[in-house]
Amino acid sequence: MRLDFFVAHASGMTRKNAKRCIGTGRVRVNGETQRKAALVLADDDHVTLDGEVLVLAGHRYLMLNKPPGVVCSTDDPDNPTVLGLLPSELRRDLHPAGRLDADTTGLVLLTSDGQWSHRITAPASHLPKTYRVELADALTDAACERLEQGVQLRNETKNTRPATVERVTPTCIRLTISEGRYHQVKRMLAAVGNRVQALHREAIGPLALDQSLAPGEFRPLTDDELEQMEGSARR
Ligand code: URA
Repeated sequence: MRLDFFVAHASGMTRKNAKRCIGTGRVRVNGETQRKAALVLADDDHVTLDGEVLVLAGHRYLMLNKPPGVVCSTDDPDNPTVLGLLPSELRRDLHPAGRLDADTTGLVLLTSDGQWSHRITAPASHLPKTYRVELADALTDAACERLEQGVQLRNETKNTRPATVERVTPTCIRLTISEGRYHQVKRMLAAVGNRVQALHREAIGPLALDQSLAPGEFRPLTDDELEQMEGSARR
């Protein structure tokens, strides 16, 4: 691929402007200033524009293990964001596909593909989300049944959709819900007289958080994972 084509596509500028940038010495290939627009790049060549690494356009899909205290927004003047955990060359055009509260940890998906994130987060997709929930009090059988059948949340009229509860310990459950109402898990537990002490998202649909990712670490989704997600979100 020619250098000017690569720079234009990776940066979003026109071919003419890409040639100009190259001609004025703003582009380096493997650390060396390169002024030849027609240079043919090898697959592993490393290209920068004004010191920023360029990567070819095309949608990006990542999973991240969100640590506590980080917010799921693209921009927040007061708090660290999930995007701030990524290197700058990856950040461009990315947004989180769905949100977790600042104190919730675990699986967050990030993408540059707005249609993909819409398919995943649209209420109609009913994509299940699984949380490990640490509780203030042991969960009673009656409360467990109510969570499974659907509970009425404060200030809402429609009950939550049926959920799945797996007991891990008396004060820890694995809860799978297929909606994404505001603070849903915390409000569901409040509705049955309990309180969430810690919340960790383990899975979205068929996609489980990679156990090898430490808090704050991320990795691209594999082609297989993307395919599985497509199948689930379409159903
Ligand atoms: N439900 C909550 O209450 N908080 C989250 O972060 C996710 C689901």
